[in-house]
Amino acid sequence: MHLARLSPCISRIRAESSGQPPPQRRPERRGPVMVHEVTRARRTDALRLIAMAMLPTLAQGPIIRRPYALRVAAALDSNAWACRALDELRERYGPGPVLVSLPGRQALVLLSVEDVHRVLGDTGAAFTAANKEKTAALSHFEPDAVLITRGAARKPRRLFNETALDHPAPEHRFHEAFRDAVRQEARPLLRHDTLDWKRFHAAYQRIVRRIVFGDAARDDERITELRDELRGDGNWFMLHRKRHRLRTELFVRSQKYLDLPEPGGLARAVRATPAAADVKPVAQMQHWFFAFDAAPIGAYLALGLLAGRRTEAARARTDHGYLRACVLESQRLWPTSLAILRDSTVETRWPGGPPVPAGTAVFFYSSYFHRDARRLPYADRFEPEAWLDGRAEADWGIAPFSRGPAECPGRNIVLFTSATLLAELLRRQWRLSSPHRLGPGRPLPRTVDHTSLRLTTADHLRMTK
Ligand code: HEM
Repeated sequence: MHLARLSPCISRIRAESSGQPPPQRRPERRGPVMVHEVTRARRTDALRLIAMAMLPTLAQGPIIRRPYALRVAAALDSNAWACRALDELRERYGPGPVLVSLPGRQALVLLSVEDVHRVLGDTGAAFTAANKEKTAALSHFEPDAVLITRGAARKPRRLFNETALDHPAPEHRFHEAFRDAVRQEARPLLRHDTLDWKRFHAAYQRIVRRIVFGDAARDDERITELRDELRGDGNWFMLHRKRHRLRTELFVRSQKYLDLPEPGGLARAVRATPAAADVKPVAQMQHWFFAFDAAPIGAYLALGLLAGRRTEAARARTDHGYLRACVLESQRLWPTSLAILRDSTVETRWPGGPPVPAGTAVFFYSSYFHRDARRLPYADRFEPEAWLDGRAEADWGIAPFSRGPAECPGRNIVLFTSATLLAELLRRQWRLSSPHRLGPGRPLPRTVDHTSLRLTTADHLRMTK
């Protein structure tokens, strides 16, 4: 039997053995309910959530993955534990948000899609994307980025991002130059009969530098090294000291590409975009440069999924829209934003419970919502069609690029870049040559280590037979 089905019994047994009266289960409300009641979690439940969901997420590295921790997390499928812990909370307290006491902080843990809609939809008003922990992490390398901006500066910074990134157009005005860059960088990968993460990632890094800063940055490995060192600091939030010298070097190097007589890539769009005094375009670009590093993970896993599926791979070779859907589906199955965080900016009211004070953190655990079999019959399988027929878009619980006013304005650039790269790579027939369980026939794991995924071409396999 699936463990999730056992969880009500587990919760009850645990409550009885702890000597506490079993909590009253609130009946689940059905229909178009906007928000649910809020309840406070008991200490034992809070500790369990910290141990099973929050610590493993932090250990994997929210800002840059720690390869060793990721390997362990994948071996244990730690994202599945987190989903189980959240399922148990829901069984125990009902579908409303649960207030959890963390060290020095109150957090509201979301458990239903209606509440997700309320929180993400109300970003910029009752909730801010510039959550305290996120701000501490990202300010190591991108202070002033729109995502961690509060107050009046947010609006012009968001507008600047949308304008330079051509959001929400499906293709950026410079997409042809981006396509050329992608195709050039794909070519050397096609010459080998095997593909591993190291080679794939290095090629994608060159693509990212060319798209963000222009072709002149293609071989500027130092700029990537600076970004990643500072991201490593970001994994420690406020616990790591700021390395101002490295950050200045990163910003000066970035500015150099903007100051070229004819900048390339998105730098060219930045030069053409009007910016009010405190928009700070270079800081906005740091977010693009950082966020783009999630794209190779999604693309590589999409290739891994297609490697085990002949029919789907054949369709992906000729249908760019389907290929984009495959990339989105890989992001649903293994969201690179492990959690989406908000802070409430005002006292919020939820039916039935006490008001929740301003300054409360709000926690959306991506895998829990992306793999929720209660809502999604396809929760643990590869279903790119869900992105083509409107099912995924209609569901606010599926948010690999977030939703609402802070939705990712780089989404279409990512989808274009990854789909273009995969279209090139799919000119050969790939097979998985590492023991990852990505094929059809059984539920896909919730945690996967992309760094050890290896592929080989079918022609190579034929040759070695
Ligand atoms: C696979 C790659 C990417 C993923 C999964 C991703 C995902 C996300 C998510 C989840 C958010 C919202 C975070 C939140 O609500 O707290 C976000 C925000 C943002 N993303 Fe992306 N992103 C990606 C790549 C990019 C790229 C390449 C760019 C730019 C070229 C970009 C630009 C932005 C910006 C500017 C924001 C802040 C929006 C705001 O605060 O209003 N992202 N992204």
